[in-house]
Amino acid sequence: MKVSREITPDIKFDYNNMMSAYIGEEQGITDNELRMTRNAALEAYSYFKLNRGSGMMGWAELPYNQDEIVKDILNTAKIIRRNCESFVVLGIGGSALGPMAVFQALCHLRHNELSKRQRKAPKFYVEDNVDPERMASLLDILDLDKTVFNVITKSGSTSETMSQYLIIMDMLKARYGDKAAEHIVATTDHEKGNLIKLAKKEGFKTFYVPDGVGGRFSELCPVGLLPAAVLGIDIKELLRGARQMDRHCRKSDFKSNPALVAAALSYISIKKGKNISVMMPYADSLKLMADWYCQLWAESLGKAVDRNGNTVYAGQTPVKALGVTDQHSQIQLYTEGPFDKVVTFIGVEKYRNEVKISGGCEDIPSVSFLSGHTLNELIAAEMYATEYALTKNHRPNAMITLPKVNANTIGQLMFFFMMQTAYTGCMLNIDTFNQPGVEEGKNATYALLGRAGYEEKAAELNSRPAKNPEYIV
Ligand code: PA5
Repeated sequence: MKVSREITPDIKFDYNNMMSAYIGEEQGITDNELRMTRNAALEAYSYFKLNRGSGMMGWAELPYNQDEIVKDILNTAKIIRRNCESFVVLGIGGSALGPMAVFQALCHLRHNELSKRQRKAPKFYVEDNVDPERMASLLDILDLDKTVFNVITKSGSTSETMSQYLIIMDMLKARYGDKAAEHIVATTDHEKGNLIKLAKKEGFKTFYVPDGVGGRFSELCPVGLLPAAVLGIDIKELLRGARQMDRHCRKSDFKSNPALVAAALSYISIKKGKNISVMMPYADSLKLMADWYCQLWAESLGKAVDRNGNTVYAGQTPVKALGVTDQHSQIQLYTEGPFDKVVTFIGVEKYRNEVKISGGCEDIPSVSFLSGHTLNELIAAEMYATEYALTKNHRPNAMITLPKVNANTIGQLMFFFMMQTAYTGCMLNIDTFNQPGVEEGKNATYALLGRAGYEEKAAELNSRPAKNPEYIV
């Protein structure tokens, strides 16, 4: 029998309210400005087209080149799902934010609180900090016998992740001796770094971060796919969604390529002093998607120098907000504060649940008008009302609409953001894929903790001016 597969419609990017026709000439982008930017956008397009798949743009091919890896991931995930109660990711930055965002988007919002029968997957934890209280509290609740740890670090040497690894491995060895390795899966570079050496020595099941895939572009490789598969998320559909979006992002016709138009709008906005990009999903399931976006946008575009070595101090500060929650916290600023922001709403047409607002309070019309509506209608009304208020106040805003939140649309959304970031970085003429500012902090940490080879950095740190007690109150 032929099984017909439901085709999920494409997500949509609506930029009407970025344009001067809707928010006025002073704050809006004119058709002429967009036309003038078209050539720079098409240059970015050609550069990306020429280089995709090579250098640090290997991630662009992930939706196409992982059939064998996906099989291995699914087999491994099956065993973990069968045997374990908790699955813990030890990782940070690009090695944590994607798995967290996809978990939040595609699993039950109270996943860990459900019974095992309801969950149908292990509990899920992502430990992306070295706060000692957090680690201690995790160890308080885990049943080690039924826990698998996925240590994820592309470089294989990030202090945070490796210190977590040391703590966990010590405990596992003390309890299970030679069998400790059964509780660890490593995800790392195939040759560089310490984790791969340890993985070989200890015999960990290992997945690789392919060449050309940096941390913040790694969600669609084993970094994100293994945790997703363990959670029972359809990873083939995630990749299919990414391919679906890629078809649009490959279009050479500027105006029908959503990531290219979005990049051009970002580029113009940045040049016009809109230094803040607010990402505001109207769905709790997408709350951590905004966190993931923030890292992608911040680390990729925040650069001191351009590709010719000129000092540019490029970037746009990403801010996460959640609708409707942050309407009661941040929207006052966005509506009336400085004209330095672009707000991107993420709306969902069909939520996975519908909740009716009950009747009652008939004698209080200012409450009873809510009855008979649904929370779905309320959240949609609040999103459109906020969009309207911002637009009326000449505040640039755009709307990304997901027909629903599922593996396909999440694949589309993440690929869209990665492409928008890559195109914007090309237009800004910066290296989108490095992170020298992060490396500086990492190296300073090594020096402070006495790692061999970092003596010069330690001397540099020790020679910094002493703090003036006068400025400490
Ligand atoms: O995007 C990036 O490259 C960074 O945020 C890294 O993901 C982060 O620093 C962690 O690095 P690693 O995966 O090497 O431990």
